Amino acid sequence: MKDNKNCHNEECECATPVFGSERMLESAPCQTIPCHPTSPEIAYQMVKDETFAQTQPRLNLATFVTTYMDKYATRLMNEAIDINYIDETEYPRVAVMNAKCINIMANLWNSPEQNKWKAGAVAIGSSEACMLGGVAAWLRWKERRKAAGKPCDKPNFIISSGYQVVWEKFAQLWQIEMRTVPLSHEHITLDIEKAISLCDENTICIVPIMGVTWTGMNDDVEALDAALEAYNAKTGHNIPIHVDAASGGFIMPFLYPEKRWDFRLKWVLSISTSGHKYGLVYPGLGWIVWKDKAYLPGDMAFSVNYLGANITQVGLNFSRPGAQILGQYYQFIRLGFEGYKAIQHSCMKVAEYVHSEIAKMPQFNVYSKELVNPLFIWSMNCDYAKNAKWTLFDLQDRLKQSGWMVPAYTMPKDIENMTVMRIVVRQGFSRDMADMLLNDIKSYIADLEKLEYPTESRLAMDKKEGHRKKWHLFSHTGR
Ligand SMILES: Cc1ncc(COP(=O)(O)O)c(C=O)c1O
Repeated sequence: MKDNKNCHNEECECATPVFGSERMLESAPCQTIPCHPTSPEIAYQMVKDETFAQTQPRLNLATFVTTYMDKYATRLMNEAIDINYIDETEYPRVAVMNAKCINIMANLWNSPEQNKWKAGAVAIGSSEACMLGGVAAWLRWKERRKAAGKPCDKPNFIISSGYQVVWEKFAQLWQIEMRTVPLSHEHITLDIEKAISLCDENTICIVPIMGVTWTGMNDDVEALDAALEAYNAKTGHNIPIHVDAASGGFIMPFLYPEKRWDFRLKWVLSISTSGHKYGLVYPGLGWIVWKDKAYLPGDMAFSVNYLGANITQVGLNFSRPGAQILGQYYQFIRLGFEGYKAIQHSCMKVAEYVHSEIAKMPQFNVYSKELVNPLFIWSMNCDYAKNAKWTLFDLQDRLKQSGWMVPAYTMPKDIENMTVMRIVVRQGFSRDMADMLLNDIKSYIADLEKLEYPTESRLAMDKKEGHRKKWHLFSHTGR
């Protein structure tokens, strides 16, 4: 009989049950590639098992990213898994589909562009799309400054301190100064007066956010546009707006079509969004649209002409998956305007329900009375917090035991002493699941309220805040 010690070739293993194989007695590779091939069944099992214990994606209320698509969408995307979008000559129909998606989004955002193909680009997510919006604003500013014979070495942009980390990356990678407007208890969204006061001739753009990652709120783009109109008329600086609509881009057109935050506003020249958030496509997909081709600097655009017209291609990545584009186009056809509206409406309804139930709990304070997006945050009620032996971080840990991921975190600079929890309601989180979550929250709080000793996170919080609280502890005998 053949000795199969240290032998992992397929000939030996295909006859062995997966869990009876030698390979399964070894640890998975961590530093070096294994010497020999492993049978696909065993390799599959090993990789699958590495992710076995993770939270169920639909119980993850931390992420904004799509965790449910129907079986036809999944099939289409799986069938297109081998398409590299950049190979447009091989897959010209995918390029056309991409351009159709950009047209559809441009029109959802009330683009005035008259060209048949609107100016925009597919991206891996909002991060790439935001970068493209920022770079375009920077290049436009640079061109203007050069033409006026002025220096171009000190560009800056303005955003609230509720920015997503991509804007910090943008500032670092392109060496553009990021001027932040603090969020405060008085200004829970972008303080427009303050934003305008930070502007100068070197400001490439202001970035309001529709669906602030930290809070779920929307900046008031219409008011910002009006303030910029006055500022630009006075100074001649012509500072534009890039809207980071990572979540809001697919919420606003369906739930608040009358609200003006998009290309209807004069100074909004570009908008970015995540197709993989409320665009309802699996990750990674983002989009950016410019108000008109005129605002997309020539240096960023590469044209192809096999569609009977020029289609403009822009992007940081070269190769990228094409399947997500099929997924987005499928969702547009499958759901239509009314389908998207119904899904976003359901998300809002479930979010409103959970929000109102959490607002009723004496332990908590919700950050905002009204919801504008299907996500919200809450903190511990100040009076309750004084004597609570636990923190929201403890509640996060307890909820994990039931599979829920409900993140607790501290707020950005200037309100960093505030700890909050956030729930993002996405397609796939039903009212029934909401009830299960609320019951779990209540029963874990009941457990936490029975604690004899303050938790480590509570003690750490006291230490950080610089006060030593005298805890009245009860011994096990109840004395
Ligand atoms: C406001 C905002 N901008 C940008 C991003 C980055 O998006 P993505 O994960 O699609 O790159 C996010 C992600 O949550 C976001 O909330």
